[in-house]
Amino acid sequence: MKRDFLRLWDLSSGEILLLLKRAIELKSGKDANKCPLMGKSIGLLFEKVSTRTRVSFEVGIYQLGAHATYMNPNEIQLGRGETIHDTARVLSRYLDAIVIRTFSHNSLIDFASSSSVPVINGLSDLHHPCQALADLMTIHEKKGKLKGIRLSYIGDGNNVANSLIEAASRMGIHITLACPKGYEPAPHLLKEAKASAKSEIKIIRDPKEAADKADVLYTDVWVSMGQEKEAREKKEKLRGYQLNSRILSCANKDAIVLHCLPAHRGEEITDDVMDGPQSAVFDQAENRLHTQKALLEFLLTPI
Ligand code: CP
Ligand code: NVA
Repeated sequence: MKRDFLRLWDLSSGEILLLLKRAIELKSGKDANKCPLMGKSIGLLFEKVSTRTRVSFEVGIYQLGAHATYMNPNEIQLGRGETIHDTARVLSRYLDAIVIRTFSHNSLIDFASSSSVPVINGLSDLHHPCQALADLMTIHEKKGKLKGIRLSYIGDGNNVANSLIEAASRMGIHITLACPKGYEPAPHLLKEAKASAKSEIKIIRDPKEAADKADVLYTDVWVSMGQEKEAREKKEKLRGYQLNSRILSCANKDAIVLHCLPAHRGEEITDDVMDGPQSAVFDQAENRLHTQKALLEFLLTPI
């Protein structure tokens, strides 16, 4: 049966650990010349722009021996009214898997329900699970473990924050999110995560309190793709939620800084923190490639 990856919880903690182990092997150069996905074709259907997700998938697919087909909805019949279900049924006849970046998570679920091949979420309004896999790999790489790590997220409770909560609750990471009122993570996801977590999940208002004794500090843009109309209001509300040296100084001395990127330097993060010795943001971006290769292998090759 096909497996989709629409949210981080589509993988068990054991599967995530296996996948991270494989990503570390791939990063070290193991099996560099093997092409486990030789002859396969993987679609990338992107409704929104992308640098990291698009390029890391295209390159990873090539390195695994498969072929990537990029589609913009406006250049296929989906943009002219062909239904999501018909599109999914047709594309399933050509492709072996499809990565989708979309506005509405529900349309991703609709697509997956009619697709007979694995569907991977390359970002929706609710989740960014491929990002969370790379985040976990980076934390493991820098800290040597996941369980018991104290992760603090400062800023907008968005798709990236939602997936981080799922990642933390699955892997035993304590997570504290400092968000302004009205910009908390999705309540239903938070409730589910709290109900099943083996670690602490806290939402608070004060970013300094969140940073206190953190091993990892994380932030993301204040205005996500598709939220441009609310930009002015969001920036106003999030102004006090900047990851800067004052906040970093509240964390553990050896804390690392993560950001999914793209960064809006001077808004949610300052240059000195982003480019400073504690920043792991470019390793984190690189790890998108390794974790997604491991994910594709996992979904497309029989165990
Ligand atoms: N982090 C991330 O998903 O970046 P892109 O929007 O460039 O793909
Ligand atoms: N929250 C951001 C993440 C970009 C990778 C957005 O959805 O635009």
